This record gives sequence, structure tokens and C-alpha cells, in this order.
Amino acid sequence: MTLSALSVASEVYPLVKTGGLADVAGALPPALAGEGIAVHTLVPGYPAVLAALQSPEVVHRNEDLFGGPARLLAGRAAGLDLFALDAPHLFDRPGGPYTDAQGRDWPDNAQRFAALCRIAAAVARGAVGGYAPDVLHAHDWQAGLAPAFLHYGEGPRPGSVMTVHNLAFQGQVPAHLLAELGLPPRALAIDGVEYYGSIGYLKAGLQLADRITTVSPSYAEEVRTPEGGMGLDGLLRARAAVFSGILNGIDEATWNPATDPHLPARFDARRPARRAADKRALQERLGLATDASTPLFGVVSRLTWQKGMDLLVAALPAVLGHGGQLALLGSGDASLERGLLDAAAAHPGRIGVQLGYDEALAHLIQGGCDALLVPSRFEPCGLTQLCALRYGALPVVSRVGGLADTVIDANEAALEAGVATGFVFSPPGPAPLQAAIGRAAALWREGEQWARLQRNAMSADVGWTRPARRYAALYRGLSSSR
Ligand code: ADP
Ligand code: GLC
Repeated sequence: MTLSALSVASEVYPLVKTGGLADVAGALPPALAGEGIAVHTLVPGYPAVLAALQSPEVVHRNEDLFGGPARLLAGRAAGLDLFALDAPHLFDRPGGPYTDAQGRDWPDNAQRFAALCRIAAAVARGAVGGYAPDVLHAHDWQAGLAPAFLHYGEGPRPGSVMTVHNLAFQGQVPAHLLAELGLPPRALAIDGVEYYGSIGYLKAGLQLADRITTVSPSYAEEVRTPEGGMGLDGLLRARAAVFSGILNGIDEATWNPATDPHLPARFDARRPARRAADKRALQERLGLATDASTPLFGVVSRLTWQKGMDLLVAALPAVLGHGGQLALLGSGDASLERGLLDAAAAHPGRIGVQLGYDEALAHLIQGGCDALLVPSRFEPCGLTQLCALRYGALPVVSRVGGLADTVIDANEAALEAGVATGFVFSPPGPAPLQAAIGRAAALWREGEQWARLQRNAMSADVGWTRPARRYAALYRGLSSSR
């Protein structure tokens, strides 16, 4: 039986992206189509979204949506069936989806994303020309009020799923906005949207959605503990019966080393030796010595505390001490950016740093480095280590969240069993990271073992087929229980 789902997200690859959420929002719908689930995706009408929308049709109008007129447009873009909320006073701005050009949160983010959620609930209830989904699937805090509007509204409604991609971003706004947001007084309660005296958008979704998920089984465990729960562990423990972890995949068409247009030399598991040309191209691109006999470590990351980038800075002596090089692409905290640029200046030819967002270079790093470093302090799932597996760049990861679930450490038993795919260290700290870098460098010098790990890594299942099956089962279970 075909089921239909409305996915609500604040970013979607390739139109608007600040991180992995966009990748998931862009890749899950086509994967679900293979499971007989027809997905429409509702996103804010940012300029890049409106520009990409093919033959848009106005399917809904609102004279005054938080201070201005809004239209809901339906059309295709980037291979997806999209609803775009065209509300110029909320979304037609230069800068990022959540922040201005200086990185400050837009002061009206509460209203911007409440608007998205209000329209989501209206669409989900069938208010828009004949479309009535079986499931509403909300992603992260920006979509967190959608299950709340469904819960407090009148009449029949579809089932709702709330997926948290990162518990660190919770969307808290002052309680006095309750009426303006369109929520009833009774919603401001512990079993409603109230969160430590404020209104919590993510809390609302986690409390009021029929099912909740996060993006890996290990993270689903971690967030139920006081250490990992960021204030929401009690709620998540209480809702354990409807809470599950479903690993992300990566888009195997976008991330395919055999066809990747960003790689000067394409390769696959049968021809990994071709990576040598990509390694050289990467070294040239980042001003590194073009030396085939040095292990090249790569990083593609937001430069933040979550990602352990300060641990990386502290571990640079290990990279250099083991005769290695570093190729890093990232952007984020100013102090980390400065620290990395200083390190690059101090070690020309050995440490190459490119700040900013660069899709093409991200692919070249995956295809050209020998090992990808992901020393996160916590990681709900992580996508870069999945890309690294597919590209034969052996991941060096901390044992947290989705990293723990997707990389098999090259310890003695795993080497013997022939199943290792990378290097896992614990806890996330400079010394364990340095030791893991040392293990990777040593194994790299033993060509044959390394080649075996590379083969394992490249044949790991990192696509969306398996996860899509799980989401489809979740949707079906939910809709048949209602
Ligand atoms: P998060 O969403 O927490 O940042 P993920 O690993 O889930 O982490 O997803 C990050 C995504 O963003 C990946 O697709 C990665 O390739 C991409 N990415 C991160 N930083 C950059 C960058 N500086 N340039 C290009 N792509 C980047
Ligand atoms: C978040 C998490 C990351 C995850 C991504 C997609 O950005 O930080 O671990 O892979 O969402 O789910």
C-alpha cells in the first residue's frame, strides 16, 4: 500500500545546507519512494528554494502570517516534491537560514519557524487542495512545533514523527510568546511545550509527537542519560516505548567515487590504487608537499567543540610526529579557525587548511586522503565518516553516537576476523586521539593490511536502503495504530 508523508525541514540539500540535516532531508524522500512512501517536503521559501522551484503553483494563501502575507507554493526541485512557504518578510533575506551575515541569530526565529510549523500542521490536516498525508515527519527544533499544532488543533489528524538530529540545538523562546505563536494557554505545561519556564520547540516535538527517533542507536542510548541528555533525558526516558534510533545513510549517487566529477581520478573497491592521483591533487590543492610516502589525514567539519576540533589542534604533533600531513576543510568558531591557520603557517607543506564551505574540496578530501579524522565529543550520527568509508579514506573516530555504530576498530580481534574498517578511540581526548593517529599511521605503512581495511570500508553498507525500510516500517506501524 502506498502511504504519503509530509516531511518538514528547515534545510534541504542541494538547495540550502548548513549540515547533515540537509543531506538527510534531501536523500530520505527518494529512498522512501522505493518503499512505497510518497513524500512531500515542506521547507521555508528561502531565495535559493524559490529560484529552483519548477512550475510553482500557489496552493494556499495566508493574508497575515506573523506580520506579512504568505503563499504556499508547490512544485518540483532537486528531484523532490516540495512545498515552499513563500513569506518574504520571514525568509527573503541575505545571510544564512538561521543567522545574519555576522552569524547572529535572526531575532524573529521564533516566529519564522512557528510559521513553518503552523503551515505544516494545516497541510497535514488536509487544508491544502486535496493533499492529506498519512504521516507528518518533523526534523529538529525548527519543525518541533508542528506536532504541537497538530496535538492542540481540532479534528482528525495524521500521525506524527519527530526526529532529533542534534540535541544541542533546542529552540527555546520566551513563554510570553505563547498566544502570539497560536498555542492555547494549556500548552504551557510540563506535558506540553513548557521547558524550564520557556517554550521549547524541540521539547514540544519530543513530548507531543506520536513517535520520536534520533539518527543512531547509540545516540538514542546516550541521550537517555543525564550526561548526554542535555536536559531532555528524563523526557526521553519516559517516552522510551515510542523512541528509536535509525542510522542515517548517504546519497550513493552524490557520493560515488566511481563517478564523482570532483575527483581527477575515479576509483572503486576494485581499483583503489587510482586514489594515488587524487591524493596528489589534494596535496597540490592545499599546498602540501606532493609526497606519496606520507600518510595524509583529512578533516571535513564544522569547527566546533562538538566536533572535537580543539582536540585535533592538540593532537597535531602526533600527525607530524608520525610523518603525516593534514588536509583540513571547515568553518566555525573564530578561535579554532585562528588556531588551525596558525598551525598551517607554522608547518608549511605539512598542514593545509582551507576555511569556508566548499563542496568540491570536501569530495577531493574524501577521495584523496588516506584517513579521515572525526574526533567528535558527541555525534548523533555523522555523515562524513560514512562518505569516508565509501571512498576508502579510513575513518579515525571517537567511540560516540553514530561514529561508534558505523566504524569497526582495527583491534587485534577485528583484524584477525578481517572485519575492521577504521580506528575507534575513547574517550574523546587529545591523548586517545594521538594514539589512534599513531595506530593509523603504523598500519598505513603496512600496505597490505591497510588495503584490506580499505576493501572492507568500501564495501560497508552506507546507503539509504536499510534506513528507509526502517522509516517506512515506522510510518506504517504508526498509521495502522491510529
Ligand atoms: P553535522 O551535520 O553535525 O555538521 P554531519 O557529518 O552529519 O555533521 O554532516 C556534515 C555535512 O556537511 C557533510 O555532508 C559534510 O560533507 C558537509 N560539510 C561539513 N563542513 C563542510 C565544508 N566546510 N565544506 C563542504 N561541506 C562540508
Ligand atoms: C546533525 C548531527 C549529525 C547528523 C546530522 C544528520 O547535524 O550533528 O551527527 O549526522 O544531524 O542527521
